[in-house]
Amino acid sequence: MHIRIAMLGYGKVARALARLLLRKTDTLRQEYDLTFDVTGIATRSRGSAIDPAGLDLEEALRLVDSGDRLDALHQGPPVADTLEFIAACPTDVIMEATWLNPQTGQPATDYVRAALQAGRHVVTANKGPVAYAYRELSALARQNNCGFFFESTVMDGAPVLGIGREALLATTVNRIRGILNSTTNLVLTGLEEGLTFDAAVASAQAVGVAEANPSNDLEGWDAAVKIVVLANVLMGADLRPQDVDRVGITDITGEDIKAAIAEKGRIKLICEAVREGDLVRASVRPIWLPLSDPLCHVSRTSSAVTLETDTLHHLTLVEGDTDPTTTAYGMLVDMLNIVRGRFD
Ligand SMILES: NC(=O)c1ccc[n+]([C@@H]2O[C@H](COP(=O)([O-])OP(=O)(O)OC[C@H]3O[C@@H](n4cnc5c(N)ncnc54)[C@H](OP(=O)(O)O)[C@@H]3O)[C@@H](O)[C@H]2O)c1
Repeated sequence: MHIRIAMLGYGKVARALARLLLRKTDTLRQEYDLTFDVTGIATRSRGSAIDPAGLDLEEALRLVDSGDRLDALHQGPPVADTLEFIAACPTDVIMEATWLNPQTGQPATDYVRAALQAGRHVVTANKGPVAYAYRELSALARQNNCGFFFESTVMDGAPVLGIGREALLATTVNRIRGILNSTTNLVLTGLEEGLTFDAAVASAQAVGVAEANPSNDLEGWDAAVKIVVLANVLMGADLRPQDVDRVGITDITGEDIKAAIAEKGRIKLICEAVREGDLVRASVRPIWLPLSDPLCHVSRTSSAVTLETDTLHHLTLVEGDTDPTTTAYGMLVDMLNIVRGRFD
């Protein structure tokens, strides 16, 4: 089988995906009888390029890595913006890795909607469309016989959603608890190591984990969006990030951390979704955990989730050493599952 791939965004994740596709080209052909062309790439400030015959992916990487624009690779009439790109690009699957607005989920939700309406399969690493429009977009995908997969939205490439979809059959998930935000976990680890709050944030920025403006992480927005994705997809909830009872870590002090350690535990920013009758309630808040809790030992940039279900009582998945390539890997797996028709 041959598929045409278009990429929305060509930042850290999408470029890691481009490199992974190049690295896995032989594996895809040998193990899945799959060949591919990348027929288009759209960015916000680096231009966009469409070539129905397939772009030179290595040249696209070279251009963007060296600060140049992609327009030199474009064939055909110009496209004015990303929605026009989606309409114009001849492709089978759109790999969406644009910017996340945790308060609105836009503009990525509009991009995913437009792609599905045009009959394209969609893989996204962007939590926004899933947290704000999961039911609508998954219904639209079903209507158009398209795949809509988003493994990389939570815990990067770790298969937490895949486990839910493929392995937790005939099971009710009653509770989800997780450590899902790297920046806050790294800052809390920094406080345990004796740094001040500001120094811990600066250190997380210096290693490229925290953004220049880390407020979405520190105030718990990113974590809230992630627990909404898990609750809506694995528990059948219909929450939005604004429904989450959300407290970030900005008020946590070194003294709090010392007191937690003296009590033989740690403070962690815990995302939680709990089934209460017909309702699912979600929260994000710093909580003292005893050392006996597996989540207590998840430090630095690792993340973890514990599922409590009516069949498997406690299932914990821990992921360490994440980077854009691990996120790209989740997108690659989603694409393969779509190609294998695993989306109905
Ligand atoms: N980094 C990770 O490890 C990670 C992990 C899990 C999920 N994610 C999610 O993956 C997505 C991408 O993350 P990233 O780290 O790759 O971000 P990034 O490096 O900031 O890249 C974002 C890309 O999206 C492009 N973009 C922004 N608005 C656009 C628009 N309106 N139309 C077309 N392109 C647009 C940007 O274009 P310019 O280059 O012109 O600005 C850039 O190429 C985000 O939703 C993020 O939450 C990231």
